[in-house]
Amino acid sequence: MNLPYAEPFKIKMVENIYKSTFEHRTKWIKEASFNLFNLRSEQVFIDLLTDSGTGAMSDRQWSAMMSADESYAGASSYYRLKETVKDITGFCYFLPTHQGRAAENVLFSVLVKEGDIVPGNSHFDTTKGHIEFRKATAVDCTIDEAKDTASLHPFKGNVDMTKLEDVLQKNPSGKIPFIIVTVTNNTAGGQPVSMENIREVSKLAQKFGVRLIIDSARFAENAWFIKTREKGYADKSIREIVREMFSYADGMTMSAKKDAIVNMGGFIGFNDEELFREASTFNIMFEGFLTYGGLSGRDMEALARGLYEGTDLGYLESRIGQVAYLGNLLKKYDIPVLEPFGGHAVFIDALKFLPGIIREEFPAQTLAAELYIEGGLRGVEIGALMADRDPVTRQNRYPDLEMVRLAIPRRVYTDNHMNYAAAVIRNVFERRENITRGFKIIREAPIMRHFTIELERC
Ligand code: F0G
Repeated sequence: MNLPYAEPFKIKMVENIYKSTFEHRTKWIKEASFNLFNLRSEQVFIDLLTDSGTGAMSDRQWSAMMSADESYAGASSYYRLKETVKDITGFCYFLPTHQGRAAENVLFSVLVKEGDIVPGNSHFDTTKGHIEFRKATAVDCTIDEAKDTASLHPFKGNVDMTKLEDVLQKNPSGKIPFIIVTVTNNTAGGQPVSMENIREVSKLAQKFGVRLIIDSARFAENAWFIKTREKGYADKSIREIVREMFSYADGMTMSAKKDAIVNMGGFIGFNDEELFREASTFNIMFEGFLTYGGLSGRDMEALARGLYEGTDLGYLESRIGQVAYLGNLLKKYDIPVLEPFGGHAVFIDALKFLPGIIREEFPAQTLAAELYIEGGLRGVEIGALMADRDPVTRQNRYPDLEMVRLAIPRRVYTDNHMNYAAAVIRNVFERRENITRGFKIIREAPIMRHFTIELERC
């Protein structure tokens, strides 16, 4: 018999979580204006809102924090992180930032100006936000297979080369500060981008004299998919694959809260010294001095260790295996899920789950609220609310996919928790015909509205 995967760690410390009643949750979600971000964490039993900053650090990360250097300038913890970033990614220059969007803010302050075009594969919402905030446009060039939740394309996160070339041809290169490739492609379902695709994008970028930046939040999960799905990579180590991925790029932004398994942190990696220098000024202004950039010494120690732990093959097998475990359970219950399963999350297709709810009433948000009420399970809407309004017409945007994402924190929940989550979803699925109305918006912010939106039942 083949031995099944098992977590390459055991649990040393536990944190209690609390069950609640259906009646309590019905009251709490209303008090939260049907926005799951407004719930208090004690009101949630299984929290699959995000895999960002919610991972469990290892004993080695915690112990490294105790010996951190908290000097303002030139801390040894900074140099340890700098060497680790070089070792894992290959980038010679780096700036620490407090999280991923801060890295975007600093880098885009140098590169993006009004009227610019930034093509990419389903830009994450903060990435799009930082582009649109500068009155530039994010153009999505993801392959069409990504829109079909049933397509089994192994690299559904890929960039469509024809769409990309079209954007590059139609616009002068001076208007395109960079192409951004997000690995894995979170918005399209945690779907990987193949090495071949990254290589081709890089070639095209060079041909047009445009930089390639990798949004790297889940770079290690992407490398695992390359190893297990792409021809020629089965015998390569995760770290070799990671180095090759980054070798095609001019720079990277990183939210370390994902694949570096820390609760807070981020960075920018560069090859170009001049760009590094220009970004340094903004880093000092927005984040902090160059050798800490919004992080304490202990954060940098934990991050440096986390980069090694997050690129360990045994860990990645159990982490991505747990996502697939939940996905397969849902499939067994006939729940419409996006396939193949992503690296960090299972995505439920809300349009298929609740076909009776019109898009103007936000089916994915409606489903997310029902999952919470049913069993204290918190996911997140990845649909029209998150897509924001069109910056010019101010009309709601209805993306092709309207999903509830169940993002699994790293090293936090057991498979029993996954069984519980699947049972909650199955119960809602069985009573789905009684869910006939969704929500209307009462109050919203002009950008990134989903975080603070207030809703009312229709
Ligand atoms: N890029 C990607 C692909 C992300 O998924 C995120 C965050 C960011 C950038 C921004 O990083 O949160 O550290 O500022 N994603 C989280 C999520 C919030 O839930 O998917 P951050």
